[in-house]
Amino acid sequence: MGMIVTIDGPAGAGKSSIARDVAAELDYSFLDTGAMYRAITYGAMQKGIDLNDVGTLVEFAEAAHLTWCDDRIDLDDNDISVEIRTPQVTSNIRYIADPPEIRNCLMRQQRRIAQGRDLVTEGRDQGTEVFPDAHCKVFLTASPEERARRRQSQLQASGRQVSFEEVLMAQNQRDLEDRMRPVGRLRAAPDAIVIQTDAMGPEQVKQAVLLAVQSCL
Ligand code: C5P
Repeated sequence: MGMIVTIDGPAGAGKSSIARDVAAELDYSFLDTGAMYRAITYGAMQKGIDLNDVGTLVEFAEAAHLTWCDDRIDLDDNDISVEIRTPQVTSNIRYIADPPEIRNCLMRQQRRIAQGRDLVTEGRDQGTEVFPDAHCKVFLTASPEERARRRQSQLQASGRQVSFEEVLMAQNQRDLEDRMRPVGRLRAAPDAIVIQTDAMGPEQVKQAVLLAVQSCL
C-alpha cells in the first residue's frame, strides 16, 4: 500500500475541495467516499429498490461498478456526477450509510482503490474504520453556523435561494445521523490532527493540512 492521508469531518467542513487540492499538490490520487455512498443511493432509487430492504441493497452495492475520473463518477458506465448531489439523494443516504453490511462492501472497495497508489481519501470513517493505519489522519471541522454559512453561499452561487435557518436545520439533521450510526460514525480518530477552520480561508486550510501531512511523513 502507498501513502494514505485520510481527511474526515462533518458535512460542510470543506473536505472535498481541500482534499482534492492537497492531493493535487502532493501528486496523490483523490477519493471522495461520500460520492460512493451517494452513487449507491442514487442507483438504488433509480432501480426502485425498497430502501428498507437491506438484503437487496447489499446485493445491489456488491454488483455496482463505480469508477472515477477527476470530478466525474460513473455507475455502471453512466455519468451520474450531477444526479448524486440532489437533496432527494442526500435525504436518502442514511439507508445506504447506516447498514454495516453495505458499509463493509464500500469499505472493501475503498481499500481496493488504495492498493498500489498514494491516496488522499475523505469521508467520515476513513481514519477510524477504513484505514486505521493511515500515515496521516486529519479531522477537518468548523462550527455548525460557519459550515451552514459556507453551504448557503455555495447554494446561492449556484442560483438556489435558501434561508440560513433551512440550511442549518438540514445540516444539524445530517450531523446527528452521521454521529449516531452504530458503525462508521463520524468521529476523529484518536491519532488524528484536528483542524478547526472557522477563522480560516480555503488557502489557509490547505496550507494547514499540507503542514499536518508533512509532520506525519
Ligand atoms: O461527504 P458527503 O456529504 O458527500 O457524504 C454524504 C453522506 O454519505 C454523509 O452525510 C454520510 O452519511 C455518508 N458517508 C459515510 N461515510 C463516508 C462518507 C460519507 O457514511 N466515508
